[in-house]
Amino acid sequence: MKKIKISPSILSADFGQLGNEIKRLVDAGADMVHVDVMDGHFVPNLTIGPPVIKALKKNSSIPFDVHLMISPVHKYIEAYANAGADIITIHPEATDDLQKSINKIKEFKKKVGVSLNPETKVEVIKKFLNQIDMILIMSVNPGFGGQTFMPKVLDKIKELVNIRNQENFSFDIEIDGGINFENSKLAIKAGANILVSGTTIFKSNDGNIKKNIDLLRSI
Ligand code: DX5
Ligand code: ZN
Repeated sequence: MKKIKISPSILSADFGQLGNEIKRLVDAGADMVHVDVMDGHFVPNLTIGPPVIKALKKNSSIPFDVHLMISPVHKYIEAYANAGADIITIHPEATDDLQKSINKIKEFKKKVGVSLNPETKVEVIKKFLNQIDMILIMSVNPGFGGQTFMPKVLDKIKELVNIRNQENFSFDIEIDGGINFENSKLAIKAGANILVSGTTIFKSNDGNIKKNIDLLRSI
């Protein structure tokens, strides 16, 4: 089994203290930082863009896992790569040529992530699986933190694990949306090895980030 990694979403952090919030995450043992980028078009919410990511990245020692919920995404890949994203995750619906967008991410030597919404089938990315470093399974409809986890997506994780075994692929499987201390165990059991969490990490146990990260990691 791959090591379980925790990627806290700064969507639930104090936006007035983002630099400090990231320091707190690093000190608490987070494996990476999940940055939710929203454009008010692909999803009905707006967050942050490349200049903020660039400023935050300067003081961070852990990888930035940048989840782009923007459309059309292709022309912005370069800006996020230059801002310091280490993993760039895109949604297939947000580009008219997924192959071209994957190539673009690789051109900048970044890890390629592709995200599947709850209703998007594995079939859509099947022929690209040998080029993908991480598949992000959305367990809520993207757009907002604090939503309820959809257990039906666990089947997709199992399907991907089977394909990975059969074909000898090596992609990571990340799950994002509504993760708490109970469903984290189900996601890990299904085969996810990277857990994203905003609300649970920043708000549970009076905001004891270290405790929350450790609890999420435990099986
Ligand atoms: C949803 C985002 C998620 C999410 C995580 O569009 O991609 O990263 O906000 O936050 P929680 O853990 O609160 O669902
Ligand atoms: Zn996300």
